[in-house]
Amino acid sequence: MPVKEFKTIITDKSVLIGPDSEQDNIIFALESSCDETAAAIVKNGREVLANVVASQIKTHIEFGGVVPEVAAREHLEAINLVISQAFEQANIKGEEITAFAATVGPGLVGSLLVGLNAGKSLALAYDKPFIGVNHLNAHVCANYLNTDLKPPFVALLISGGHTQIIEVKSYSEQTIIGETIDDAIGEAYDKVARLIGLPYPGGVNLDKLAQTGNPFAFKLPEAKLKNEYDFSFSGLKTASLQLIQKLKKEYTELPKADIAASFQENVTSTLFKKTKKAADNINAKTIALAGGVAANSEIRRKFFELQNQGFKIYAPEIKYCTDNAAMIASSAYFLANTTDSISVEVFSRMH
Ligand code: KG4
Ligand code: ZN
Repeated sequence: MPVKEFKTIITDKSVLIGPDSEQDNIIFALESSCDETAAAIVKNGREVLANVVASQIKTHIEFGGVVPEVAAREHLEAINLVISQAFEQANIKGEEITAFAATVGPGLVGSLLVGLNAGKSLALAYDKPFIGVNHLNAHVCANYLNTDLKPPFVALLISGGHTQIIEVKSYSEQTIIGETIDDAIGEAYDKVARLIGLPYPGGVNLDKLAQTGNPFAFKLPEAKLKNEYDFSFSGLKTASLQLIQKLKKEYTELPKADIAASFQENVTSTLFKKTKKAADNINAKTIALAGGVAANSEIRRKFFELQNQGFKIYAPEIKYCTDNAAMIASSAYFLANTTDSISVEVFSRMH
């Protein structure tokens, strides 16, 4: 089974950041990897003092999805505003910040550069350390915001770009034990949403429609894989397309809600089964959901039911499931070390 470790990017100023620090750590973070421009200020990795998100959804509706060039330009227009709003919301000055942080990847390079350069500039201007943050580590850390969650636990990271089961052994160790071999779950949601004619952003609209349909109306296939914790959604996408084409011939009006509900039942039970198996095998009694798709109503319902079997289930508030900067600040706190990386560059993919 492939085991990959996330790499944390570290700083060169000798300031101890994280749970071992003896002083309060106030981290200012920026996020601009995809279609949200966000700034946040978080104390000691958990207490959100400010959280500002400028969404580009309205712009991208026009194009039916995210156009990288358009996204980068929108980030540039929004970044200064979200920075000043975050300082205002927290009622904090730059001098009071312990360290500045920003997402370095994975994401759209042009978009990442906007947040990264703004974050580095702030660090230089206030003479503070800079911490580059991995967006995926950060999604998991969203579970620390306003909670008392402590490792060890198993995390299910489900977003527009990734689908991973992660073993979190300690604050600084996140090990991937399973992941998608093709499409990400959010991508599958967005593609099937488009196939049944739902507007962008597809995932949340499909979720809403699914709640009005019959989850057992249509049977869709489930991939069988060598690593029992891995996922594959490309076959399901093709099967959904074939089902929709067949139903279009049979029905005058496409039973959209039943298709949505059947798709949702298929993917949520796969995610649930595999994560539960990983938790059982590792002997973990705590599971944390993360990423944009963790906002999904059915995923939350299935996992929260496990609380009746002695499990502790965590899922971030919806605003911390989708992209935000509070999770970046939390990750900077929990995964940073004592040195800094003002020279860090952006990266688009994990491997
Ligand atoms: O984590 P995120 O905001 O961005 C990435 O880092 O990818 O995740 C975005 C993904 C999109 O594919 C979106 O359609 C999906 O999360 N999503 C949902 C729901 N809300 C957002 N998918 C299913 N059900 C939802 N309620
Ligand atoms: Zn994300």
